[in-house]
Amino acid sequence: MREQIEHAETANRELRAQRVDRWYPKFHIAAPAGWINDPNGLSHFRGRFQVFFQHNPFAPVHDSMHWGHVSSADLVTWRREPIALAPSVLEDRDGVFSGSAVVSDDDRLIAYFTGHRWRNGVDEAEGNLQVQCMAVSDDGVTFERQGVIVDCPEDLLHFRDPKVWRTDDTWYMVFGACSAEHRGEVWLYTSQDMWEWEFARVLFRDPNPEAFMLECPDMFPLETAHGVKWVILYCPMGPSPSGYQARNQHNAGYVVGDWTPGGEFVQLTDYRPVDWGAQFYAPQTFEAPDGRRIVFGWMGQFGSPLPSVEDGWNGQLTVPRELTLDDDLRLIQRPVEELEQLRIHSTDLGEVSLSAEEDRLLLDDVDGAEVELELDLTRTDAERVSLAVNRTVDGHETLVSFDDLSGRVAVDRRAAGAGPRGYRAAPVPAGTERLRLRVLIDRASVEVFVNDGVAAVSSFAFPAEGPKSIRLTAESGRAEVRSLRVHRIGSIWEQDRD
Ligand code: FRU
Repeated sequence: MREQIEHAETANRELRAQRVDRWYPKFHIAAPAGWINDPNGLSHFRGRFQVFFQHNPFAPVHDSMHWGHVSSADLVTWRREPIALAPSVLEDRDGVFSGSAVVSDDDRLIAYFTGHRWRNGVDEAEGNLQVQCMAVSDDGVTFERQGVIVDCPEDLLHFRDPKVWRTDDTWYMVFGACSAEHRGEVWLYTSQDMWEWEFARVLFRDPNPEAFMLECPDMFPLETAHGVKWVILYCPMGPSPSGYQARNQHNAGYVVGDWTPGGEFVQLTDYRPVDWGAQFYAPQTFEAPDGRRIVFGWMGQFGSPLPSVEDGWNGQLTVPRELTLDDDLRLIQRPVEELEQLRIHSTDLGEVSLSAEEDRLLLDDVDGAEVELELDLTRTDAERVSLAVNRTVDGHETLVSFDDLSGRVAVDRRAAGAGPRGYRAAPVPAGTERLRLRVLIDRASVEVFVNDGVAAVSSFAFPAEGPKSIRLTAESGRAEVRSLRVHRIGSIWEQDRD
């Protein structure tokens, strides 16, 4: 595999030399150049957080999947690492697909991933031939392949994305499958030694008959007021849009239930979206050494290319978010607290009253920012209160709005400088009197957290050329803001040249 990795590294360096940085993320993980999709192999090994990702080093399109790699001691500053896995044997001829990594008792990093081949050798028309593979690393950087550990059942067209964890003394692996009846399922295997795996059961079948495959399933426990509950995150392929939900070509959601090793998964909640934004997919979690459950998602899209393709890159990961469950078994996600270290200049604007149609400058010359805002809904009668981000003199902008008519927080890209338009919106919990928004604004994206993480909206939002400002506006009524803080955000990269 060494040869294939060297070849990929060389090609990627050439692509990197031509990268244009006007939109390249300042504080989100992205490929140095080329394509990124799912976060893979999230783990903590040898004192560092390890983030691998689906990566095409040759071009900013989804093709020839490798595992790219970055690492960090603190979840704030990241270092580029060499490509970790490259297609190099028959089983992964058409891609080293998604998977996970765990640390063994003898302190090695064990990666599990899908070896992918098209049955007809050219495309997906006759389905995939997908097997689960294993690779081992002593240093977290170079891996040795160990071959196939779970073969593909004959009649399955999709069978991928192993996620491994340990409960008590047993190792568990879930992955996504398209059943013989074309239903999306999560399959569970077990192992005592990490090498020999046995089928245990079909753990979950999506009740939605439109879902024919569940990509990137993840399963993990979280403490709640009702005891420990298990979350299954997954990405159903197939469901059609419904109201504000499933608007993207690819959507991620979750269910919560009860599970004990050896038993069935008992679903307690309906399917809910993880994030309401236009670009959020394939989330993967891991447990940090201090017990926090942390998730990264992929911000990107298959199908239509993002405008950054002309700059030599495509896609990014979300910031790391800590996951918890509230009393209603809703997933709460907040940027990990370490991210506050990225604030390089903060201004506290205190209480702010806006009259109808006012449009007030909060920050100019923005190159990475964060806004924290608390809106007093009992004293606000505006129809819409918006942070206009990426505002340029030519009138382009993206609106992050509280919309009183729909009772939602929306990211509206109708006037974006480039790229996809349209809007996405998350519900504001009924009865909310103080609406808290936390908005992370990178060079081409926004991530919005509503009421300390009860909902999130993550979308790419490409600005036009020229200096960008952030403004606060109220339409058809007043806005009473109880607190407002703006921060400039620094870079996550260890070296500027990254
Ligand atoms: C999800 C996915 C996975 C697959 C990988 C390929 O985005 O399609 O199911 O392993 O991406 O890059």
